[in-house]
Order: sequence, then C-alpha cells, then structure tokens
Amino acid sequence: MKVIRKVSEMQQLALQFKKRDKKIGFVPTMGFLHEGHQSLMQSAREESDIVVVSVFVNPLQFGPNEDFERYPRDEQRDIDTAEKNLVDVLFIPELTEMYPSEQSVSLNVSKRSNVLCGRTREGHFEGVVTVLSKLFNITLPDKVYFGMKDAQQIAVVDSLVNDLNFPIEIVPVATVRENDGLAKSSRNIYLTELERKEAKNVYQALQIGLELVIDGEKNPDIIVKEVEDFIVQNTHGTIDYVELLSYPELIQVAAINERVILAVAVQFEHARLIDNIVFDDKGLISKRI
Ligand code: PAF
Repeated sequence: MKVIRKVSEMQQLALQFKKRDKKIGFVPTMGFLHEGHQSLMQSAREESDIVVVSVFVNPLQFGPNEDFERYPRDEQRDIDTAEKNLVDVLFIPELTEMYPSEQSVSLNVSKRSNVLCGRTREGHFEGVVTVLSKLFNITLPDKVYFGMKDAQQIAVVDSLVNDLNFPIEIVPVATVRENDGLAKSSRNIYLTELERKEAKNVYQALQIGLELVIDGEKNPDIIVKEVEDFIVQNTHGTIDYVELLSYPELIQVAAINERVILAVAVQFEHARLIDNIVFDDKGLISKRI
C-alpha cells in the first residue's frame, strides 16, 4: 500500500491509473477507522481495480462549538487498518496541504440541507461538499462509497454529483452495527458506560417506528411521537430531532406512500449519536440512493 501526503502526487497517480483504464473506488473518511469504514473498503475492493482511501479531518464541516480539536485520531492504526483491507493508496494530507490559503470559492447547499443535522449544524454540509469536490478532483474516482449512517450526507452528495456533473457513481453501503444494534461510529468512544448501555435504545426506537409502518401506520406524526417517547423513557440523552421525511429529497410527507427516512439524533453528555432507517411504504428497507 502506498501512503501519499501530497495533493499533486495523489492527482498524478490517479491520472496514471485513468490512462491505464483502471476503475478507481474511493472511500473518503476522517480516520479513526472502524468496521463501518472497513465495510466501505471491502465494497470498494470488490468493485474496483484500485482502492483509494483518504483520511482527513476536515475543519470546514465542524461548527465553532463542535469537536474538531478533540475528534479522535490515530494515524498508525488507520494505516494498519487500510493495509489489512487491501487498500492500494492511502491519502493522508496535512491541513495546510488541503487548504494552503483561505478558500476564495465556496459551495452553497440549498436543498436537502435545512433539515435533520443541517438544521443545527450550520455550514456543515457546505464544508462536506467543498472537501469532497476537492477530494474527487484529486483522486478521480469512478465510484465513491459512503455509509448509510450518514444518509443525509449521501442525499446531499447525490445532489452535488448531479448538479456539478461529476462523472461519479455514489454507492451507499448499509450501516454496520454493534451486536446490540448501536451504529458503529468514531464518536462512540465518547460515551460513558451508562450511555453506552442506553445507546442501543436509539436503534431500538427506530425499529419501533418501522414496526408501526409494517403494521400499516401511515401517519408520520404518530410514528415520530412513538420514537420520541421511547428515547425519552429509555435514555438520559436529549433528543435533537426525530424526523420522518421523503428520501433522498428530505421533504416533509403527509402520509407514508413513498420511500422515506426515519432519522434521529440524540445528544448524550459528550457524544451526539445519529441513526436512521430508510424504507418504503410497506416498511421494506431500501439500500439504494
Ligand atoms: O463522512 C465523513 O467522514 C466526512 O463527512 C467525509 C465524507 C469524509 C468528508 O469530510
């Protein structure tokens, strides 16, 4: 595996792969790689000639009161994990390499971003699409792999790729979970012992919502209320949101007659957990964007 730290070197190598007609599968990450990331790497390995993974904690997508400084980092462990997962190229740029000077061009996200996490994380998705546009131009991927845990991110990136005509296929990959259902996340290490025990109830709440739909419930308000009640009764966390919206458009629905996302965010003392399920009007889980 090659470890590359320079933008120009990464771009040159990607261009050489392209000239040799190699299909590049790309997994963008912020590091502290866990089984969720490994599942993205494995999907990329199965479908691509060359697998490129990036590790870059992008300051543009963190708000002033968020955890940019203390976001977990472990470069050597990331290198070992990427190597074990048969990654060909690991791109680990320094902050000054990605942003040598203040950006003078910025991207604005006007749809799919003012709900769910976008409502409270001002500027977050602008930061995400900016860094991804840069990473797409640097790594020249054919397919890019994202975890469904960040389903809103996938919806926004889907708009980015369509609106700006990136010749890229977005591949959503199912959320990887702990045995008790908690979605794997780099931020789970912030949970206290008690919070970790309670955290499984976030996924449990989503399951309760899904079961209502399978039993024929069509009213989003009733489902949202049941999910909220379960979280309040079974965790010490504070609900940031429970929302049921069309997917990937992320628009309010009056009744469940189409593909929807049921999404939650719960703030624990030091960790904000997000999770979601995407399903159709019969409650069948959907795997595509
Ligand atoms: O999902 C993430 O880890 C980040 O938002 C991403 C896609 C790597 C962009 O910084």
